[in-house]
Amino acid sequence: MRNSAEIINNPPSVNRGGPTALVIFGATGDLSRKRIFPALYKLYSQNLLPQTFVIVASARSQHTSIPFRSIVFQMIQEKQKLKKDVWQKFAQEIHYFPSDLALDIRLQTIATAIDEFEKKSNTCLNRIFYLAISPQIVQKAIENLGKYNFHLGCTIHKGAKKPRIIIEKPFGQDLKSAQNLAQTLSRFFAEDQIYRIDHYLGKETVQNIFAFRFGNELFEPVWNNQYIDHVQITTAEDISVEKRGEYYDQTGALRDIVQNHLLQLLALTTMEEPEEFTAESIRRKKLQVIRQIKKLTKEEIVTSTVRAQYQDYRQEEKIDPNSVTESYALVRLFIENPRWLRVPFYLRTGKKLMGKVTSIILQFKEKSHELFKTFWQKPLPNHITLQIQPNEGIGIRLVAKKPGLTTKLEPVDMEFCYKTSFDIPQPDAYERLLMDVVIGDQSLFLSQSVIEESWKIIDPIREVWDHDQPKLATYKPGSWGPKEADDLIAKDGRQWLQPLLTICKI
Ligand code: BG6
Repeated sequence: MRNSAEIINNPPSVNRGGPTALVIFGATGDLSRKRIFPALYKLYSQNLLPQTFVIVASARSQHTSIPFRSIVFQMIQEKQKLKKDVWQKFAQEIHYFPSDLALDIRLQTIATAIDEFEKKSNTCLNRIFYLAISPQIVQKAIENLGKYNFHLGCTIHKGAKKPRIIIEKPFGQDLKSAQNLAQTLSRFFAEDQIYRIDHYLGKETVQNIFAFRFGNELFEPVWNNQYIDHVQITTAEDISVEKRGEYYDQTGALRDIVQNHLLQLLALTTMEEPEEFTAESIRRKKLQVIRQIKKLTKEEIVTSTVRAQYQDYRQEEKIDPNSVTESYALVRLFIENPRWLRVPFYLRTGKKLMGKVTSIILQFKEKSHELFKTFWQKPLPNHITLQIQPNEGIGIRLVAKKPGLTTKLEPVDMEFCYKTSFDIPQPDAYERLLMDVVIGDQSLFLSQSVIEESWKIIDPIREVWDHDQPKLATYKPGSWGPKEADDLIAKDGRQWLQPLLTICKI
């Protein structure tokens, strides 16, 4: 397994994995279009994929391989320019077979196709099944994979590796359904074969939280409740629910973003240092801290959370005109361990806000320095901003003396920006995650236990919210959210530190 220095210095290309067949169910869907095919092409064009790499694409539409390749060409072109010679070779690896995984239609053709590829290449292929399909049919899809023995892998040669399965969030709608899903999966696949994607963990800057915290001696001594006053974790989006109204209206911001992305960011910010850089060790430490998050009581939920909907949400496509689903969520949490006791963590997310930004801001305690008392009335706290996206970087707010003959202190910002410090384009989250599945590294994927623990935090909140407590607030599109969110933090004697939309804007 790789250690942190290796991870930071060497991309996963050091190990390209063996001959592989990637089977994508849902190959005509949004995820395939926006993320999977562009990422695969990029990896292919950088020569990072295994020499033998067959893509078996499948969906309900009745295509054959050649017209489907033109569709893939367009999918990739929406994101990047293609090189003619690279594309021509890549296209040859894509083979389309119509099927319906949930309704068990034409699955045998896929099984036969994989066998044929293995016969042709005279070797067993590492089989990877990617379920890029609607969450409603995942359960049925897994059962049908089992029915056709897809989980058994290659049988025609010796030394076959166990097949891997990739599934996407949401992992259930609550603890119970997450456990049911896990039970179905475990009938066919062992934990080391299951790759559960939370694509935030594939983001370069999210991984950098690790390097920043554990690779710099400077920060670890102050990374605790003695110095940190509170932490604000924000994922703001300026987009609406777009074409995903049906899914979103049944899900809401709490389940869509807080349960997974935000709790993962919280865990990475607060976890103890893993003993080694292995999937097990990292997962163990993350799980430990997620377990230590205090579950809110009914009364606390009313005073520690805000749910809100943007004006006109109910007029969006495929949204119930009487919907009470939140498009904004704010949750204040505490971690019950010695390092973080009494430090509030404000997790907030929303659609149709002022801008697109994901950031983690750690505000330090305000200390009144005797020495500066006469010219510094109001102490200006330091803070560290981990800017996950866009304009990825890290900002540190300090206090400095303003040049001049008098002594005046002012806040100043120090910035580290990826763009200027490293002249290397950042890989998309999906490139990193797909590569890790190919080489069999689970470090950046979720374990079932962490998912269950996260639901244990979210389910009680959902339940109280479903009883209309606290009242559903509204907010203006293009704002930073509802007034109720400002009131909540103001009651704590604090205020929002607006995410730095201008950080690293070069
Ligand atoms: C997804 C959510 O997990 O993350 C979407 O389902 C959201 O609602 C998306 O838009 C945001 O991802 P990113 O990478 O654009 O921040």
